[in-house]
Amino acid sequence: MIIAANLKTNLTRVQTTKYVQSIEKFLDSENISQEVLVFPATSSLNLHDGKVIIGAQNAYPAKNGAFTGEIGVDHLDEFSIKTILIGHSERRHILGESQKDIVNKYNFYKALGFKIVYCIGEPLKIREAGEDELLRYLDAQYEGIDLDYENLVVAYEPVWAIGTGLTPTLEDIESLHLKLKEKCKAPLLYGGSVKVTNAKDVLALDGVDGVLVGSAALYAEHFCTMISYAQELESK
Ligand code: PGA
Repeated sequence: MIIAANLKTNLTRVQTTKYVQSIEKFLDSENISQEVLVFPATSSLNLHDGKVIIGAQNAYPAKNGAFTGEIGVDHLDEFSIKTILIGHSERRHILGESQKDIVNKYNFYKALGFKIVYCIGEPLKIREAGEDELLRYLDAQYEGIDLDYENLVVAYEPVWAIGTGLTPTLEDIESLHLKLKEKCKAPLLYGGSVKVTNAKDVLALDGVDGVLVGSAALYAEHFCTMISYAQELESK
């Protein structure tokens, strides 16, 4: 399974280094064979040698250039980063990235062979409008995206579940994941208020290949517990 931590705008470079080191220690001591991804804040990116795969939360689709406030491939190359999060709801809804911007970014990083964790998810209003509306909305977030890309991982994260403590029911997650899997065969993570208390149940669902965790992953100990659940479930 894939267990991913999105650290968002949290943890400084010093804190991130400590965080990643403690996860490495855990992976070694427990002989963990799961794929563990960590997405630190941009200024906390660093060279890393270990099992944890470090990814960027964002980068501009350019090698370098005049894109104030952004980083480019040169900056990722400096730290050998080959993994990127694209389409996260905070970038779509807070930072105003359009589907067109997202597709540009996707195509650019795909051409470079990056592992792309591509996020989709609906706001509450859409969820409340019923399943047809929900599927239509998610479909539109696949527009322009090559779903056969071999280095693609999809993360389904309902916007209303991110950072709120709310989640769809387990039945809802499972049935939606199974539908999404028909459309795209890439590994499919669930994200949105995953924490130690619900991670095991979510990871055990059909159609769930891992989790993308925000707030609860800020505590290395909690994140490691979730990794151990995945390990436990896979060795059953
Ligand atoms: P959350 O965030 O776990 O804090 O809900 C998940 C995410 O945004 O990826």
